Amino acid sequence: MKTKEQPFIMVIFGASGDLTKRKLMPALYSLYKRHRLTENFTILGVARTAYGDVQFRSYIHNQLNKFLDPKEYQAEEVGEFCKHLYYVAMDPSEADDYLLLANRLQELSGSAQPNNILYYLSTPPSLYGVVPVHLKAYKLNSRGSRIIVEKPFGYDLESALKLNNIYASVFDEKQVYRIDHFLGKETAQNILAFRFANGIFEPLWNRNYIDYVEITATENIGIEQRGGYYDESGALRDMVQNHLIQLLALTAMEPPVNFNATEFRNEVIKVYNSLVPLTETDFKEHVIRGQYTASDAKKGYREEQNVKPDSRTDTYIAMRLNIGNWRWAGVPFYIRTGKQLPTKVTEIVVHFKETPHHMFHQVGEGSAQNNTLILRIQPNEGVQLRVAMKVPGSGFEIKQTAMDFTYDKLGGLPPGDAYARLIEDCIASDPTLFTRNDAIEASWRFFDPLISYWKQHPDAPLYGYPAGTWGPKESEAMMNEHGATWTNPCKNLTDSDQYCEL
Ligand code: BG6
Repeated sequence: MKTKEQPFIMVIFGASGDLTKRKLMPALYSLYKRHRLTENFTILGVARTAYGDVQFRSYIHNQLNKFLDPKEYQAEEVGEFCKHLYYVAMDPSEADDYLLLANRLQELSGSAQPNNILYYLSTPPSLYGVVPVHLKAYKLNSRGSRIIVEKPFGYDLESALKLNNIYASVFDEKQVYRIDHFLGKETAQNILAFRFANGIFEPLWNRNYIDYVEITATENIGIEQRGGYYDESGALRDMVQNHLIQLLALTAMEPPVNFNATEFRNEVIKVYNSLVPLTETDFKEHVIRGQYTASDAKKGYREEQNVKPDSRTDTYIAMRLNIGNWRWAGVPFYIRTGKQLPTKVTEIVVHFKETPHHMFHQVGEGSAQNNTLILRIQPNEGVQLRVAMKVPGSGFEIKQTAMDFTYDKLGGLPPGDAYARLIEDCIASDPTLFTRNDAIEASWRFFDPLISYWKQHPDAPLYGYPAGTWGPKESEAMMNEHGATWTNPCKNLTDSDQYCEL
Protein backbone atom coordinates (compact mmCIF):
# COMPACT_ATOMS: atom_id res chain seq x y z
CA MET A 1 0.00 0.00 0.00
CA LYS A 2 1.36 3.47 -0.87
CA THR A 3 2.08 5.67 2.16
CA LYS A 4 -0.71 8.00 1.07
CA GLU A 5 -3.30 5.26 1.17
CA GLN A 6 -2.42 4.01 4.64
CA PRO A 7 -4.78 4.93 7.47
CA PHE A 8 -3.28 7.68 9.59
CA ILE A 9 -4.00 9.64 12.72
CA MET A 10 -2.98 13.28 12.87
CA VAL A 11 -2.61 14.56 16.41
CA ILE A 12 -2.79 18.34 16.54
CA PHE A 13 -1.29 19.87 19.68
CA GLY A 14 -2.76 23.35 20.06
CA ALA A 15 -6.10 22.27 18.60
CA SER A 16 -8.04 25.20 20.02
CA GLY A 17 -5.49 27.76 18.81
CA ASP A 18 -5.35 30.26 16.02
CA LEU A 19 -3.30 28.33 13.47
CA THR A 20 -5.53 25.28 13.75
CA LYS A 21 -8.70 27.15 12.90
CA ARG A 22 -7.24 29.52 10.33
CA LYS A 23 -4.88 27.24 8.43
CA LEU A 24 -4.69 23.59 9.47
CA MET A 25 -8.36 22.65 9.47
CA PRO A 26 -9.14 24.52 6.23
CA ALA A 27 -6.12 22.79 4.62
CA LEU A 28 -7.17 19.34 5.86
CA TYR A 29 -10.74 19.94 4.75
CA SER A 30 -9.63 21.03 1.31
CA LEU A 31 -7.54 17.84 0.96
CA TYR A 32 -10.54 15.82 2.10
CA LYS A 33 -12.83 17.57 -0.34
CA ARG A 34 -10.48 16.95 -3.23
CA HIS A 35 -10.21 13.25 -2.25
CA ARG A 36 -6.53 13.64 -1.43
CA LEU A 37 -6.86 11.86 1.91
CA THR A 38 -7.30 8.17 2.49
CA GLU A 39 -10.84 7.33 3.65
CA ASN A 40 -9.53 6.01 6.92
CA PHE A 41 -8.08 9.04 8.60
CA THR A 42 -8.52 10.48 12.05
CA ILE A 43 -7.69 13.90 13.41
CA LEU A 44 -7.17 14.01 17.15
CA GLY A 45 -7.19 17.49 18.64
CA VAL A 46 -5.16 18.05 21.80
CA ALA A 47 -5.45 21.14 24.01
CA ARG A 48 -6.28 22.16 27.54
CA THR A 49 -9.80 23.44 26.74
CA ALA A 50 -12.34 21.05 28.24
CA TYR A 51 -14.03 19.83 25.06
CA GLY A 52 -15.38 16.37 24.32
CA ASP A 53 -15.38 14.96 20.76
CA VAL A 54 -18.82 16.35 19.98
CA GLN A 55 -18.04 19.85 21.21
CA PHE A 56 -14.76 19.86 19.33
CA ARG A 57 -16.51 18.85 16.10
CA SER A 58 -19.04 21.59 16.47
CA TYR A 59 -16.32 24.16 17.32
CA ILE A 60 -14.32 23.22 14.23
CA HIS A 61 -17.44 23.19 12.07
CA ASN A 62 -18.13 26.79 13.10
CA GLN A 63 -14.55 27.82 12.49
CA LEU A 64 -14.56 26.26 9.03
CA ASN A 65 -17.69 28.21 8.27
CA LYS A 66 -15.76 31.33 9.20
CA PHE A 67 -12.35 30.66 7.70
CA LEU A 68 -13.03 28.59 4.59
CA ASP A 69 -13.38 30.35 1.31
CA PRO A 70 -17.21 30.61 0.99
CA LYS A 71 -16.91 28.81 -2.36
CA GLU A 72 -15.40 25.82 -0.54
CA TYR A 73 -17.82 25.69 2.37
CA GLN A 74 -20.62 23.14 2.00
CA ALA A 75 -22.32 22.41 5.31
CA GLU A 76 -23.06 18.76 4.59
CA GLU A 77 -19.55 17.96 3.41
CA VAL A 78 -17.99 19.84 6.33
CA GLY A 79 -20.24 17.79 8.62
CA GLU A 80 -18.91 14.58 7.04
CA PHE A 81 -15.33 15.79 7.44
CA CYS A 82 -15.92 16.63 11.09
CA LYS A 83 -16.92 13.02 11.79
CA HIS A 84 -13.20 12.25 11.49
CA LEU A 85 -12.39 14.57 14.40
CA TYR A 86 -11.75 13.51 17.99
CA TYR A 87 -10.41 15.35 20.98
CA VAL A 88 -8.45 14.77 24.14
CA ALA A 89 -8.32 17.46 26.81
CA MET A 90 -4.86 17.49 28.36
CA ASP A 91 -1.99 19.73 29.25
CA PRO A 92 0.85 19.02 26.79
CA SER A 93 3.42 20.23 29.31
CA GLU A 94 2.32 17.62 31.89
CA ALA A 95 4.08 14.26 31.58
CA ASP A 96 1.25 12.33 33.28
CA ASP A 97 -1.36 13.60 30.84
CA TYR A 98 0.28 11.64 28.04
CA LEU A 99 -1.34 8.54 29.43
CA LEU A 100 -4.66 10.04 28.27
CA LEU A 101 -3.18 10.53 24.82
CA ALA A 102 -1.70 7.04 24.70
CA ASN A 103 -5.04 5.50 25.69
CA ARG A 104 -6.93 7.53 23.14
CA LEU A 105 -4.50 6.59 20.38
CA GLN A 106 -4.79 2.95 21.30
CA GLU A 107 -8.57 3.15 21.22
CA LEU A 108 -8.64 4.99 17.88
CA SER A 109 -6.01 2.89 16.15
CA GLY A 110 -6.97 -0.42 17.69
CA SER A 111 -3.30 -1.04 18.51
CA ALA A 112 -1.15 -0.69 21.60
CA GLN A 113 1.67 0.52 19.33
CA PRO A 114 -0.04 2.81 16.87
CA ASN A 115 2.08 3.34 13.83
CA ASN A 116 1.20 5.91 11.18
CA ILE A 117 0.80 8.86 13.55
CA LEU A 118 1.53 12.44 12.52
CA TYR A 119 2.04 14.87 15.37
CA TYR A 120 1.52 18.55 14.52
CA LEU A 121 2.97 21.03 17.00
CA SER A 122 0.84 24.10 16.62
CA THR A 123 1.61 25.24 20.17
CA PRO A 124 3.59 28.09 21.67
CA PRO A 125 7.28 27.47 20.85
CA SER A 126 8.03 26.90 24.55
CA LEU A 127 6.46 23.43 24.15
CA TYR A 128 8.56 22.37 21.15
CA GLY A 129 11.22 20.84 23.38
CA VAL A 130 8.76 19.34 25.84
CA VAL A 131 6.26 17.36 23.75
CA PRO A 132 8.75 14.99 22.04
CA VAL A 133 10.28 14.01 25.38
CA HIS A 134 6.88 13.08 26.79
CA LEU A 135 5.94 11.22 23.61
CA LYS A 136 9.06 9.12 24.00
CA ALA A 137 8.31 8.38 27.65
CA TYR A 138 5.01 6.81 26.54
CA LYS A 139 6.60 5.07 23.52
CA LEU A 140 4.53 7.16 21.17
CA ASN A 141 7.49 7.79 18.85
CA SER A 142 7.32 4.62 16.75
CA ARG A 143 9.35 4.57 13.55
CA GLY A 144 6.27 5.17 11.43
CA SER A 145 5.38 8.37 13.27
CA ARG A 146 6.30 11.85 12.09
CA ILE A 147 6.32 15.20 13.81
CA ILE A 148 5.62 18.53 12.15
CA VAL A 149 7.01 21.53 14.00
CA GLU A 150 6.00 25.09 13.28
CA LYS A 151 8.49 27.93 13.13
CA PRO A 152 10.26 29.49 14.93
CA PHE A 153 12.44 26.45 15.51
CA GLY A 154 14.64 27.95 18.20
CA TYR A 155 15.20 31.49 19.32
CA ASP A 156 18.87 31.64 18.40
CA LEU A 157 21.63 29.21 17.49
CA GLU A 158 22.03 27.80 20.98
CA SER A 159 18.34 27.05 21.48
CA ALA A 160 18.03 25.60 17.96
CA LEU A 161 20.95 23.27 18.65
CA LYS A 162 19.34 22.20 21.89
CA LEU A 163 16.03 21.52 20.16
CA ASN A 164 17.72 19.55 17.39
CA ASN A 165 19.41 17.40 20.04
CA ILE A 166 16.10 16.72 21.75
CA TYR A 167 14.48 15.73 18.45
CA ALA A 168 17.45 13.52 17.58
CA SER A 169 17.04 11.68 20.88
CA VAL A 170 13.38 10.91 20.14
CA PHE A 171 13.06 10.61 16.36
CA ASP A 172 15.17 9.88 13.31
CA GLU A 173 15.83 13.07 11.36
CA LYS A 174 13.65 11.69 8.56
CA GLN A 175 10.66 11.71 10.96
CA VAL A 176 11.06 15.43 11.72
CA TYR A 177 9.23 17.90 9.47
CA ARG A 178 10.19 21.50 10.28
CA ILE A 179 7.58 23.46 8.42
CA ASP A 180 8.11 26.81 6.70
CA HIS A 181 4.86 27.47 4.90
CA PHE A 182 6.55 29.73 2.33
CA LEU A 183 8.07 26.61 0.77
CA GLY A 184 4.57 25.22 0.35
CA LYS A 185 3.56 28.16 -1.81
CA GLU A 186 3.09 27.15 -5.42
CA THR A 187 4.79 30.30 -6.60
CA ALA A 188 7.85 29.73 -4.41
CA GLN A 189 8.19 26.28 -5.96
CA ASN A 190 7.72 27.86 -9.35
CA ILE A 191 11.01 29.71 -8.88
CA LEU A 192 12.67 26.32 -9.32
CA ALA A 193 10.58 25.44 -12.35
CA PHE A 194 11.22 28.84 -13.88
CA ARG A 195 14.96 28.58 -13.35
CA PHE A 196 15.58 24.91 -14.03
CA ALA A 197 12.90 23.87 -16.52
CA ASN A 198 13.80 26.64 -18.98
CA GLY A 199 17.05 26.79 -20.85
CA ILE A 200 17.11 30.52 -21.45
CA PHE A 201 17.43 32.02 -17.97
CA GLU A 202 20.08 29.89 -16.30
CA PRO A 203 22.98 31.11 -18.50
CA LEU A 204 22.13 34.67 -17.39
CA TRP A 205 21.58 33.81 -13.73
CA ASN A 206 24.90 34.95 -12.30
CA ARG A 207 27.21 37.83 -11.50
CA ASN A 208 28.02 38.47 -15.17
CA TYR A 209 24.46 39.54 -15.99
CA ILE A 210 22.72 40.30 -12.72
CA ASP A 211 23.34 43.60 -10.99
CA TYR A 212 21.37 43.05 -7.78
CA VAL A 213 18.35 41.23 -6.41
CA GLU A 214 15.54 42.40 -4.14
CA ILE A 215 13.44 40.06 -2.02
CA THR A 216 10.44 41.72 -0.44
CA ALA A 217 7.73 40.35 1.85
CA THR A 218 5.60 43.17 3.20
CA GLU A 219 2.28 43.15 4.99
CA ASN A 220 -0.40 45.79 5.37
CA ILE A 221 -1.52 44.55 8.77
CA GLY A 222 0.03 44.97 12.20
CA ILE A 223 0.58 42.17 14.66
CA GLU A 224 -3.13 41.66 15.33
CA GLN A 225 -3.72 39.54 18.46
CA ARG A 226 -0.16 38.12 18.53
CA GLY A 227 1.57 40.73 20.70
CA GLY A 228 2.73 38.18 23.29
CA TYR A 229 4.55 36.08 20.69
CA TYR A 230 5.67 38.88 18.40
CA ASP A 231 7.19 41.13 21.03
CA GLU A 232 9.62 38.32 21.91
CA SER A 233 10.27 37.45 18.29
CA GLY A 234 10.33 40.51 16.02
CA ALA A 235 10.59 40.57 12.25
CA LEU A 236 14.05 39.01 12.11
CA ARG A 237 12.92 35.80 13.80
CA ASP A 238 9.37 35.86 12.49
CA MET A 239 10.12 36.35 8.80
CA VAL A 240 13.79 36.79 7.89
CA GLN A 241 15.52 33.80 9.52
CA ASN A 242 13.07 31.42 7.86
CA HIS A 243 10.77 32.66 5.07
CA LEU A 244 13.04 35.24 3.43
CA ILE A 245 16.12 33.12 3.67
CA GLN A 246 14.23 30.25 2.01
CA LEU A 247 13.28 32.51 -0.86
CA LEU A 248 16.90 33.59 -1.11
CA ALA A 249 17.95 29.94 -1.32
CA LEU A 250 15.45 29.20 -4.10
CA THR A 251 16.67 32.22 -6.04
CA ALA A 252 20.38 31.64 -5.58
CA MET A 253 20.86 27.85 -5.38
CA GLU A 254 22.71 25.69 -7.86
CA PRO A 255 20.53 23.28 -9.84
CA PRO A 256 19.99 20.13 -7.76
CA VAL A 257 20.97 16.94 -9.59
CA ASN A 258 17.48 15.54 -8.96
CA PHE A 259 14.44 17.03 -7.39
CA ASN A 260 14.46 14.83 -4.34
CA ALA A 261 14.72 15.61 -0.64
CA THR A 262 18.44 14.99 -0.29
CA GLU A 263 19.65 16.76 -3.40
CA PHE A 264 17.33 19.75 -3.04
CA ARG A 265 18.13 20.26 0.63
CA ASN A 266 21.85 19.86 0.01
CA GLU A 267 21.67 22.82 -2.37
CA VAL A 268 19.71 24.93 0.14
CA ILE A 269 22.35 24.46 2.78
CA LYS A 270 25.13 25.32 0.36
CA VAL A 271 23.53 28.74 -0.11
CA TYR A 272 23.27 29.30 3.64
CA ASN A 273 26.86 28.25 4.12
CA SER A 274 27.98 30.66 1.40
CA LEU A 275 26.40 33.72 3.01
CA VAL A 276 29.20 36.16 3.74
CA PRO A 277 29.24 36.71 7.51
CA LEU A 278 28.00 40.15 8.54
CA THR A 279 30.58 42.45 10.07
CA GLU A 280 30.12 45.19 12.63
CA THR A 281 30.02 47.69 9.74
CA ASP A 282 27.19 45.67 8.20
CA PHE A 283 25.28 45.66 11.49
CA LYS A 284 25.48 49.45 11.47
CA GLU A 285 25.07 50.23 7.80
CA HIS A 286 23.50 47.30 6.01
CA VAL A 287 20.86 46.20 8.47
CA ILE A 288 17.98 48.60 8.99
CA ARG A 289 15.65 47.91 11.90
CA GLY A 290 12.33 49.67 12.11
CA GLN A 291 9.22 49.80 14.25
CA TYR A 292 5.88 51.26 13.17
CA THR A 293 4.55 54.31 14.91
CA ALA A 294 0.98 55.61 15.06
CA SER A 295 -0.43 57.36 12.02
CA ASP A 296 -3.98 58.45 11.13
CA ALA A 297 -6.29 55.77 12.40
CA LYS A 298 -3.52 53.21 12.83
CA LYS A 299 -2.01 52.31 16.16
CA GLY A 300 1.71 52.39 16.76
CA TYR A 301 3.39 49.10 17.62
CA ARG A 302 3.90 50.09 21.25
CA GLU A 303 0.16 50.65 21.64
CA GLU A 304 -0.66 47.11 20.53
CA GLN A 305 -2.05 44.61 23.02
CA ASN A 306 0.56 42.61 24.98
CA VAL A 307 3.44 44.76 23.74
CA LYS A 308 5.71 46.51 26.22
CA PRO A 309 5.20 50.29 26.09
CA ASP A 310 8.96 50.79 25.64
CA SER A 311 9.44 47.77 23.37
CA ARG A 312 12.43 47.80 21.02
CA THR A 313 11.20 44.90 18.94
CA ASP A 314 11.69 45.20 15.18
CA THR A 315 8.60 45.17 12.98
CA TYR A 316 10.65 46.01 9.89
CA ILE A 317 13.99 44.69 8.69
CA ALA A 318 15.88 45.52 5.54
CA MET A 319 19.34 44.18 4.96
CA ARG A 320 22.01 43.63 2.37
CA LEU A 321 23.39 40.12 2.05
CA ASN A 322 26.19 38.80 -0.07
CA ILE A 323 26.71 35.26 -1.21
CA GLY A 324 30.38 34.36 -1.36
CA ASN A 325 30.55 31.88 -4.20
CA TRP A 326 31.60 31.81 -7.86
CA ARG A 327 28.10 32.51 -9.16
CA TRP A 328 27.18 35.43 -6.93
CA ALA A 329 30.35 37.16 -5.74
CA GLY A 330 29.74 40.91 -5.72
CA VAL A 331 25.96 40.74 -6.34
CA PRO A 332 24.06 42.25 -3.40
CA PHE A 333 20.81 40.65 -2.32
CA TYR A 334 18.59 43.20 -0.60
CA ILE A 335 15.89 41.67 1.51
CA ARG A 336 13.13 43.40 3.47
CA THR A 337 10.01 42.64 5.39
CA GLY A 338 7.69 44.71 7.52
CA LYS A 339 4.32 44.98 9.19
CA GLN A 340 2.01 47.92 8.56
CA LEU A 341 3.42 48.81 5.15
CA PRO A 342 1.14 50.05 2.36
CA THR A 343 0.38 46.66 0.83
CA LYS A 344 0.82 42.92 1.20
CA VAL A 345 3.23 41.66 -1.37
CA THR A 346 5.93 39.01 -1.60
CA GLU A 347 8.15 39.17 -4.63
CA ILE A 348 11.66 38.76 -5.94
CA VAL A 349 12.95 41.38 -8.31
CA VAL A 350 16.03 40.47 -10.33
CA HIS A 351 17.78 43.48 -11.86
CA PHE A 352 19.92 42.67 -14.86
CA LYS A 353 22.94 44.79 -15.76
CA GLU A 354 22.53 47.69 -18.13
CA THR A 355 23.28 47.40 -21.80
CA PRO A 356 26.92 48.40 -22.28
CA HIS A 357 26.05 51.24 -24.64
CA HIS A 358 22.95 53.44 -24.93
CA MET A 359 22.08 53.94 -28.61
CA PHE A 360 18.50 55.07 -28.20
CA HIS A 361 16.60 57.89 -26.60
CA GLN A 362 14.74 56.62 -23.60
CA VAL A 363 11.27 57.88 -22.62
CA GLY A 364 9.19 57.32 -19.50
CA GLU A 365 10.32 56.37 -16.05
CA GLY A 366 13.34 54.30 -15.13
CA SER A 367 16.24 53.10 -17.14
CA ALA A 368 14.94 51.58 -20.34
CA GLN A 369 18.31 49.88 -20.82
CA ASN A 370 18.02 47.73 -17.75
CA ASN A 371 15.86 44.57 -17.77
CA THR A 372 14.01 43.51 -14.67
CA LEU A 373 12.39 40.21 -13.86
CA ILE A 374 9.73 40.03 -11.16
CA LEU A 375 8.79 36.72 -9.60
CA ARG A 376 5.60 37.51 -7.73
CA ILE A 377 4.92 35.04 -4.94
CA GLN A 378 1.68 36.72 -3.80
CA PRO A 379 -0.83 38.19 -4.47
CA ASN A 380 -1.65 38.35 -8.20
CA GLU A 381 0.83 35.53 -8.56
CA GLY A 382 2.89 35.55 -11.71
CA VAL A 383 6.07 36.48 -13.50
CA GLN A 384 6.84 39.69 -15.30
CA LEU A 385 9.80 40.50 -17.50
CA ARG A 386 10.35 44.17 -18.16
CA VAL A 387 11.96 44.80 -21.50
CA ALA A 388 12.65 47.85 -23.67
CA MET A 389 10.61 48.31 -26.85
CA LYS A 390 10.49 50.91 -29.53
CA VAL A 391 7.72 53.46 -29.17
CA PRO A 392 5.69 53.39 -32.41
CA GLY A 393 6.32 56.39 -34.67
CA SER A 394 9.26 58.02 -36.24
CA GLY A 395 12.68 58.10 -34.61
CA PHE A 396 13.98 55.54 -32.11
CA GLU A 397 12.46 56.18 -28.75
CA ILE A 398 12.61 53.35 -26.26
CA LYS A 399 10.23 52.60 -23.45
CA GLN A 400 9.97 49.86 -20.82
CA THR A 401 7.09 47.49 -21.25
CA ALA A 402 6.08 44.31 -19.46
CA MET A 403 5.75 40.72 -20.63
CA ASP A 404 3.41 39.13 -18.11
CA PHE A 405 2.44 35.68 -17.04
CA THR A 406 -0.19 35.40 -14.34
CA TYR A 407 -1.26 32.20 -12.64
CA ASP A 408 -4.90 32.64 -13.50
CA LYS A 409 -3.85 31.92 -17.11
CA LEU A 410 -2.99 28.34 -16.12
CA GLY A 411 -6.39 26.84 -16.86
CA GLY A 412 -8.10 28.94 -14.21
CA LEU A 413 -6.56 26.89 -11.40
CA PRO A 414 -5.71 29.10 -8.43
CA PRO A 415 -2.40 28.38 -6.74
CA GLY A 416 -2.96 25.65 -4.14
CA ASP A 417 -2.84 26.32 -0.42
CA ALA A 418 0.63 26.11 1.12
CA TYR A 419 -0.48 24.22 4.24
CA ALA A 420 -2.50 21.71 2.24
CA ARG A 421 0.49 21.00 0.04
CA LEU A 422 2.85 20.51 2.96
CA ILE A 423 0.48 18.38 5.03
CA GLU A 424 -0.09 16.17 2.01
CA ASP A 425 3.67 15.82 1.55
CA CYS A 426 4.08 14.83 5.18
CA ILE A 427 1.32 12.23 4.91
CA ALA A 428 3.19 10.83 1.92
CA SER A 429 6.49 10.92 3.90
CA ASP A 430 8.09 13.38 1.50
CA PRO A 431 10.28 15.82 3.45
CA THR A 432 11.67 17.71 0.41
CA LEU A 433 9.93 20.99 1.21
CA PHE A 434 10.70 20.89 4.94
CA THR A 435 13.77 22.28 6.63
CA ARG A 436 16.52 19.87 7.60
CA ASN A 437 18.34 20.11 10.95
CA ASP A 438 21.59 21.34 9.37
CA ALA A 439 19.79 24.09 7.44
CA ILE A 440 18.09 25.41 10.57
CA GLU A 441 21.46 25.53 12.29
CA ALA A 442 23.22 27.17 9.34
CA SER A 443 20.57 29.84 9.15
CA TRP A 444 20.77 30.64 12.87
CA ARG A 445 24.57 30.54 12.66
CA PHE A 446 24.40 33.35 10.12
CA PHE A 447 21.98 35.54 12.09
CA ASP A 448 23.32 34.84 15.57
CA PRO A 449 26.09 37.50 15.50
CA LEU A 450 23.49 40.11 14.58
CA ILE A 451 21.20 39.01 17.41
CA SER A 452 24.14 39.17 19.84
CA TYR A 453 25.15 42.58 18.55
CA TRP A 454 21.66 43.95 19.25
CA LYS A 455 21.72 42.36 22.69
CA GLN A 456 25.07 43.94 23.51
CA HIS A 457 24.08 47.31 22.00
CA PRO A 458 20.57 47.98 23.26
CA ASP A 459 20.79 51.50 21.87
CA ALA A 460 21.62 50.37 18.31
CA PRO A 461 19.29 52.34 16.02
CA LEU A 462 15.68 51.27 15.73
CA TYR A 463 14.03 53.64 13.27
CA GLY A 464 10.39 54.59 13.58
CA TYR A 465 8.16 54.64 10.49
CA PRO A 466 4.56 55.77 10.40
CA ALA A 467 2.17 52.82 9.94
CA GLY A 468 1.09 52.63 6.32
CA THR A 469 4.37 53.88 4.82
CA TRP A 470 7.21 51.98 3.14
CA GLY A 471 9.45 51.84 6.20
CA PRO A 472 12.35 53.94 7.49
CA LYS A 473 14.03 56.29 5.05
CA GLU A 474 17.39 54.85 6.13
CA SER A 475 16.40 51.72 4.25
CA GLU A 476 16.16 53.72 1.03
CA ALA A 477 19.56 55.26 1.78
CA MET A 478 21.08 51.77 2.00
CA MET A 479 19.82 51.03 -1.52
CA ASN A 480 21.01 54.38 -2.81
CA GLU A 481 24.57 53.29 -1.97
CA HIS A 482 24.20 50.86 -4.84
CA GLY A 483 22.66 53.57 -7.05
CA ALA A 484 19.31 51.83 -6.66
CA THR A 485 15.93 52.31 -5.02
CA TRP A 486 13.50 49.74 -3.64
CA THR A 487 10.95 48.54 -6.15
CA ASN A 488 7.74 49.46 -4.38
CA PRO A 489 5.04 47.56 -6.19
CA CYS A 490 2.35 50.23 -6.15
CA LYS A 491 3.08 53.85 -6.55
CA ASN A 492 -0.35 55.35 -6.10
CA LEU A 493 -2.02 52.99 -3.74
CA THR A 494 -5.18 54.42 -2.26
CA ASP A 495 -6.74 53.43 1.04
CA SER A 496 -9.34 51.27 -0.64
CA ASP A 497 -6.72 49.25 -2.56
CA GLN A 498 -5.46 46.23 -0.70
CA TYR A 499 -3.00 44.76 -3.12
CA CYS A 500 -0.95 45.89 -6.06
CA GLU A 501 -1.27 44.58 -9.55
CA LEU A 502 1.67 42.66 -10.89
C1 BG6 B 1 4.02 33.82 9.45
C2 BG6 B 1 4.41 34.93 10.36
O1 BG6 B 1 4.97 32.80 9.48
O2 BG6 B 1 3.92 34.33 8.12
C3 BG6 B 1 3.38 36.06 10.29
O3 BG6 B 1 4.50 34.44 11.68
C4 BG6 B 1 3.17 36.50 8.87
O4 BG6 B 1 3.77 37.15 11.10
C5 BG6 B 1 2.91 35.31 7.98
O5 BG6 B 1 2.05 37.36 8.88
C6 BG6 B 1 2.89 35.73 6.52
O6 BG6 B 1 2.50 34.63 5.75
P1 BG6 B 1 1.66 34.81 4.44
O7 BG6 B 1 1.55 33.46 3.85
O8 BG6 B 1 0.35 35.42 4.83
O9 BG6 B 1 2.45 35.76 3.60
